[in-house]
Amino acid sequence: MFESSKWITSEKDYGSAPRVYFRDLNIIKPLRKAVLHITAGGIYNVYVGNDKAGDVVFTPGWTVYDKHHMYQSYDITDLVAESDFLYVSVGSGWYAGRIKRSLPQKQFPCDFGIIAQIDLEYAGGLRETIVSDESWTVGTGNILESDIYDGEVYDANIKPTFEDAVKILDESKTQLTPQIGEYVVEHDIFEPKKIFTTPKGETVVDFGVNLTGYPFFEGLQARMGERVDLSFGEILDKDGNFYNDNYRTAKCQFTYICRDGEQSYKPHHTFYGFRYVRINEFPEGADPSILRAVDVYSDIERTGYFECGNEEVNQLFKNTIRGQKDNFLDIPTDCPQRDERLGWTGDAQVFCKTAMYNFNVNGFFNKWIYDMTLEQYENGGIPDMIPNAFGGVSSAWADSVCIIPWTMYQMYGNVDILKLAVPAMKKWVGYMRSFTDNEFAYVQDRSYGDWLGLDATEGSYDGKTDKSFLSDAFYAYSCSILAKAMAIIGEDNSEYLELYDNIVKEFKVRFADYTETQTACVIQLHFGLCDDRRAVTEKLVKLIRDNDTALTTGFVGTPYLLHALSENGEVELAYDLLLRREYPSWLYPVTVGATTIWEHWDGMKPDGSMWSDDMNSFNHYAYGAVCDWMYGVICGINPRNGKDEAGFRVFDIAPVPDKRLGYAKAELDTAYGRIVSEWKYEKDKFVYSFEIPEGTTAYVTVDGKTEILSAGKYTR
Ligand code: BGC
Repeated sequence: MFESSKWITSEKDYGSAPRVYFRDLNIIKPLRKAVLHITAGGIYNVYVGNDKAGDVVFTPGWTVYDKHHMYQSYDITDLVAESDFLYVSVGSGWYAGRIKRSLPQKQFPCDFGIIAQIDLEYAGGLRETIVSDESWTVGTGNILESDIYDGEVYDANIKPTFEDAVKILDESKTQLTPQIGEYVVEHDIFEPKKIFTTPKGETVVDFGVNLTGYPFFEGLQARMGERVDLSFGEILDKDGNFYNDNYRTAKCQFTYICRDGEQSYKPHHTFYGFRYVRINEFPEGADPSILRAVDVYSDIERTGYFECGNEEVNQLFKNTIRGQKDNFLDIPTDCPQRDERLGWTGDAQVFCKTAMYNFNVNGFFNKWIYDMTLEQYENGGIPDMIPNAFGGVSSAWADSVCIIPWTMYQMYGNVDILKLAVPAMKKWVGYMRSFTDNEFAYVQDRSYGDWLGLDATEGSYDGKTDKSFLSDAFYAYSCSILAKAMAIIGEDNSEYLELYDNIVKEFKVRFADYTETQTACVIQLHFGLCDDRRAVTEKLVKLIRDNDTALTTGFVGTPYLLHALSENGEVELAYDLLLRREYPSWLYPVTVGATTIWEHWDGMKPDGSMWSDDMNSFNHYAYGAVCDWMYGVICGINPRNGKDEAGFRVFDIAPVPDKRLGYAKAELDTAYGRIVSEWKYEKDKFVYSFEIPEGTTAYVTVDGKTEILSAGKYTR
């Protein structure tokens, strides 16, 4: 592919305005087939005549461009039959925009450039190829400014010409590979739920949920020079006013300069995270209720469903689904609104199991983990975010290289991802090992720790749990995963089994009495790093009860908190935490109307005050990781790890009910069919029903009794 094509770009610097490349096709009809292969150093849209090729957006996605730059292929036969020219609009996107940050190795050479090949096949069988070269021309279109963080400014009055000569770039093509993973597409359309005037007198449209995508309008009547100018926010402040100081430097512009007459508009190369839209300017006499919003995310298929007798828990579950959609836009992002939107590894790691119950994200994570292996440093460190935007290596974040592929294996039976990741896992464990003084212990001086734990000192992001404790614990955990993964792909893992034993031995010596924080207890229990489980459990219970039955855990401890309790006989307390409505808790944001998961437990406190604007997203999925406890414990659907078991060919069903929920039901679509696990009370008696799909076997544990069952519908 692209043998004769050349990377082309513009000679002139047009600032952040998208470059538009133009080519007459001069097709000798009749044509049998026309296929376009293309990619860009930015985000591109292709148009043949006035029609967009493909219904995908944000191509070519965000990858490690210097090593893995995807191209896309479009069948444009029908479009070419109607029109004879083609143009490509390229916005700065992830390749050339502000988001790429400042790592030296990230100065890519083809900013705003494209490379293309069009394969034509005529009716008589004759073939011809059109490639990107000097025969194309370039210019700018109606978009004056475009950036993922800063939004778009569009002038409908410009009559664009694309007549400048292109500049040929002599750049590498070896990194160009076909698309893998899911495409990003537009999904649902949202109408305004409410349009209101705030106490400050501003007009605000409420779209009802915090979504990622963009607003658009059709059929707007306006006069030349009038504007549609919008600002975006996720939440209202305590007085009910529009608020978006938490977007930091992301300008998120939406400025449309009208021409005369009726017009429609949808932004092209940018996205916004928002629930509320403030109308800064709108054409005279026009009604903002014509605004619509569309959400945009990777085309992943929904697989998991959960509901129970508690409406607030159901809303928490829905908020997690919403947050996943909002942050699965080609890569798993921390948040979709402020000047980050980065593939933070820790966030994806803590959320990955929930993500894999909710949706089929096998292809999505395949692509991202591949990029992770490409971004791994020579010394084995894994950068904080993939693609790497500004470096760093931190325990629990970098351990995603072990945890995510292993979870993909468990949930999807994906052995290939283990084959891909095991060399990177070895390098990562080797990196940690290189810091040890005696083969056993490890002291880490740079880690985010239990990020955003509530036991942090006032104003700090770092939870109280000792950072070297966490590094050691994750070192052990990753080493155990590596050993298991090697066994699955048939490699001799004895070295790592021994290393694991040594790490654990040393860990127990150094941290035997370290039960100072909830997270410290949770990690020891869930990772199996303590001898006296009862004592550590009792300490954890005490820490929670002494804290008014409330959690203090941050990013690292929270995903395992309920598991650590329910695995150690404290089911009732686990439910107490899940069902707690007062701040701090999972349900507190629900009680104040949240539609997504907040970054901080104290993003907005009961008195209406907010955590500093500096780091306060209302759409961070990490704490939504609690949903894997809903599927896996409340309804008890769990994968098994054996070589022929993973991917739910053989699985467990072991529900752990609590009367307070009334009933609970989880459904999971697997490669074999749908698993259903449902329980309810009938006059104080638990009634369980299960469905086991064809070709699978389930170990069903009810009231402490285990049965091995094959496909069918059962009641117990
Ligand atoms: C991100 C996080 C991330 C963290 C690392 C933040 O800026 O939004 O979610 O994991 O940095 O500590």
